[in-house]
Amino acid sequence: MADYIYTMEIRLTPDQLKGVNLVQEIARAAGVTLYLTGGAIRDIISGFTIRDLDFTVQGNPLKLQKDFERAGAQIAGHDEDVRTLFLVLPGNVRAEIGMSRTEEYEKVGKAPVITPASIQEDLRRRDFTVNAMALSLNEGSRGLLLDPFNGVADIEAKLLRILHNYSFVEDPSRLIRAARFAARFHWPLEERTQQRYDAAKENNYMEHILRGAVGHEIAQLAHEDDPLSVIRALEKEDWLKVLHPHWSSAKVDANGIALLMKTRQQLVDLGYTVDPSAAVMHFLTAKLSDKDISDLRRQIPRKDLIESWRDIEDHAKDLAKRLMGKEAATPSRTWNLLSAARPEMILFLAVTSRHQTVAGKIKNFLTKWRQVQQRIPLPEMTELLITPTLPEYPKIARDVFMLLLDGRLRSHTETLKFLKPFAPPPPPPPPPPRRGRGPKAAAVAAVAPAAAAPVKAGKGKGKAAPAPAAAPAVVAKSEAKPEAKAKAEAKAKPAKAAPKAVKSAAKPAAKPAAKKPAPVKKAKRKKR
Ligand code: CTP
Repeated sequence: MADYIYTMEIRLTPDQLKGVNLVQEIARAAGVTLYLTGGAIRDIISGFTIRDLDFTVQGNPLKLQKDFERAGAQIAGHDEDVRTLFLVLPGNVRAEIGMSRTEEYEKVGKAPVITPASIQEDLRRRDFTVNAMALSLNEGSRGLLLDPFNGVADIEAKLLRILHNYSFVEDPSRLIRAARFAARFHWPLEERTQQRYDAAKENNYMEHILRGAVGHEIAQLAHEDDPLSVIRALEKEDWLKVLHPHWSSAKVDANGIALLMKTRQQLVDLGYTVDPSAAVMHFLTAKLSDKDISDLRRQIPRKDLIESWRDIEDHAKDLAKRLMGKEAATPSRTWNLLSAARPEMILFLAVTSRHQTVAGKIKNFLTKWRQVQQRIPLPEMTELLITPTLPEYPKIARDVFMLLLDGRLRSHTETLKFLKPFAPPPPPPPPPPRRGRGPKAAAVAAVAPAAAAPVKAGKGKGKAAPAPAAAPAVVAKSEAKPEAKAKAEAKAKPAKAAPKAVKSAAKPAAKPAAKKPAPVKKAKRKKR
């Protein structure tokens, strides 16, 4: 049997996994049963990018709002009718927590009657078999996959299949969803589903779509990896104009979208977690009027998307202004400014800025300046014992990088000269092993007389230097090495810590007093 918890753990990003654990904790404390459901399960099993986390609780998630806020989550909106909470969990993880429910469609075009229900009933009200699975996150059954419609088999067959014949009549937004998923996954509709789809189209079921569903589908476009191809697929099916009558692929800034997605990948490759949704909406609607754009925004249920989309240009302008000012007068300052900026803003400016200085600085930040990191002499730093175990290491490494960026350390020699004062004293040699007693020690002495020799030669009064138990020559050598090196280094150390050119950089940390040499070495020196 497949281990779905293991699959979930290896497929989610670290932040998403923390998000699952956090939601699980909150649900457990509140005493409600919790399931990971819908698209998250589909994507975990199929191997596609997991865009967001859909949870379902048997209970009212709106009551958990305070608990989520206390745990550092942002409430991005809620839907009172279906009792769903939209969240941004720490680490920028999008999540939705809905109430486990039935939806009864009494009249075409009317909102369904919602009733709290079991998870099994909840799965029956969903759109496609691949979206109608739930993974238990509850003690006692954690890891159990509920898959009443054999969604796993349809994932393997790469098919989109509705759960029953009335699916598209009941919720015509599923026609848009079918086209969107087909374009995203390149999965066809199963034969009967295709027939129902065609019939729904012919009979114009779409005119009964609910406003709330339109807003939900508009927002979903913002999270597509290839939004333009989805827009084109929706246009081909005549669904784009359902989302807004003036929307068409001609209203999209196609070059902007292409560059956005390319730059986004570049940022991801550099290790950034970047949410491009606001920028995607900006480009998808680039040629629509302001009024049309406001109409689109008004329908979106998540206020975090509405706000980030609305403010993206202003925020980017602010950052551009700062990039042109004193705050970014040097490469190191620019680096600091951009490192502290939201990756979403860097992404948007990288794609939109027409100003050469701004574009150039962002380009350097993403490419050239990163290569400067390779000029930090890590092997030599290790030799100097400037390693991450030092508390001041992050500051030293950062200062070297900043000085290299600004061209204030122009050569390898200059860099080493800067670093040497930060070298800590070598660690004291390990205490010599105790002299053994009894037959074992005698046996060792018998087979290794050379080992005992230096000790015997030592004429110290009172306690003799303890004899190493094995391989003394090697031990003595290796122990002597750091000490000798430290001496040599002490000689080489400049009187003043940092060279003039780099005065403003980090100051070397105070060094602890040197320790007395160990008895083993004393004995050795005497012998010489
Ligand atoms: N759902 C449904 N019918 C709809 C909308 C949603 O049955 N009209 C159910 C599906 O089970 C879906 C889940 O609610 O998987 C979550 O909805 P949503 O987030 O829109 O879909 P995802 O499947 O997560 O798709 P995406 O990958 O686009 O986020």
